[in-house]
Amino acid sequence: MTSSHSSVGSSSLVWDRRLIDRYDLSGPRYTSYPTAPQFHEEFGEAELCRAIERSNAAGRPLSLYFHIPFCSTVCYYCACNKIITANRKRAMPYLERLVEEIAMQGKLFDQSRPVHQLHWGGGTPTYISDDEKRLLMAATRENFNLLDDDTGEYSIEIHPGDMDVSTISCLRELGFNRLSMGIQDFDPIVQQAVNRFNSVEDVRALVDTARVEGFHSISMDLIYGLPHQSWQTFTSTLDSIIDLNPDRLSVFNYAHMPHLFKVQKQLDELALPSAEEKLLMMERMTEKLLDAGYVYIGMDHFAKPDDELAVAQKSGVLQRNFQGYSTHGGCDLVAFGVSSISAIDNVFAQNHKQIDDYQGAVNAGNLPVARGFELSDDDLLRQEVIKQLICHFELNFADIDAQFSICFKEYFAEELEQLQPMVEDGLVAVGEDQIRVSLAGRLLIRRICMTFDAYIKPSLKNKSAEIRYSKII
Ligand SMILES: C[S@@+](CC[C@H](N)C(=O)[O-])C[C@H]1O[C@@H](n2cnc3c(N)ncnc32)[C@H](O)[C@@H]1O
Ligand code: SF4
Repeated sequence: MTSSHSSVGSSSLVWDRRLIDRYDLSGPRYTSYPTAPQFHEEFGEAELCRAIERSNAAGRPLSLYFHIPFCSTVCYYCACNKIITANRKRAMPYLERLVEEIAMQGKLFDQSRPVHQLHWGGGTPTYISDDEKRLLMAATRENFNLLDDDTGEYSIEIHPGDMDVSTISCLRELGFNRLSMGIQDFDPIVQQAVNRFNSVEDVRALVDTARVEGFHSISMDLIYGLPHQSWQTFTSTLDSIIDLNPDRLSVFNYAHMPHLFKVQKQLDELALPSAEEKLLMMERMTEKLLDAGYVYIGMDHFAKPDDELAVAQKSGVLQRNFQGYSTHGGCDLVAFGVSSISAIDNVFAQNHKQIDDYQGAVNAGNLPVARGFELSDDDLLRQEVIKQLICHFELNFADIDAQFSICFKEYFAEELEQLQPMVEDGLVAVGEDQIRVSLAGRLLIRRICMTFDAYIKPSLKNKSAEIRYSKII
């Protein structure tokens, strides 16, 4: 057992084991508020079209998301929305529908709105061939106003073990300037256990090429809590990662929910590290990354101090969206492809989750929206409160009062009351004019945000929704 109050400290984070033991419950990751379980099927095409009209009138810049669901092999830990197939011919019929959806949505949006942000996610976006990638980007360019001066934030998720180095040049040629690499773990025993393979050498070749090609930022994903991991094996993976020198890191807590993600049943549960071991991994990881010069951004994210994410946080403009943290605010998010989620004006709209339903809707000439949510004034207010806390760890009452014409202290009197135990425990300080999350409270920010979530009943806030959400740490 570790001591009950070990403290790894820096100016961006303090590790307090006593608080973690008390508050590490399951909770939403707040990539949206309200969260996806609130979306419903009464929301459809008509509601989406009206939101697009409102967003055109406001004329905000756009952020585009494209979902490529295919993967050639399955990783046993995976909780993403994906289709496993070694038959790469399956991609083209889907891409044809995707191109149709781009044209359909393109007609609805004001063509002059600049695309400040663009992201290809998956699944594995690098599953499709370079020619297919060119086709998809050409269709996007035809229908939307892409920036050609490299000032946009254009990113793609890549699977290093499933691509050729030459693809990096193709991605740069298409306008991408950010890469996010799924690494997870370099240990051969762990890789075998989760059926996911990428060597340090393969990753280094991709990183070197990306730097030569002028990518602005390289991000890497790791997972802790996988079978056969221990703090020693994870430390050794981290040494290799630090040596590869990514600009950003996402270190996810393995969300083991085999009742929701059937593929996880293939993992050997007996080989999963204990809760105690996971905490040790998290603690050592935090210490190591802070020592290596990374800044803790929030949730699972770390960045170099000069990376745009850290700079955006410092200057108070950091955002949060379905991809995690982001630097570009004030955009309407338009999503394409199976299961993807748009955030336009005051609505969320999600496409069909099953590929046949998605393709069927596009074939019938309809927008493939399956469900969604229209935010009320109260939802918008709480969304802003949660965003401020999760992105900046502080919130000034006067800013919210001015933006929403309320008196924060009166409107949220009950929530401020509910925060009291956390105030007494030192997670958060509530002053006359502001809420400030302490350095020790930062790791538990989800728990603090849950206080302002109107969809989690007060009686459940201390138990949390174990079925739907993963543990915080
Ligand atoms: C869509 S995947 C990344 C793209 C690409 N398919 C890949 O694997 O490299 C996004 C990230 O989610 C994380 N992830 C997937 N399943 C997870 C789980 N069960 N728990 C925690 N993180 C998970 C992984 O770190 C993964 O890199
Ligand atoms: S982790 Fe990535 S490559 Fe692996 S199955 Fe999930 S989406 Fe596919």
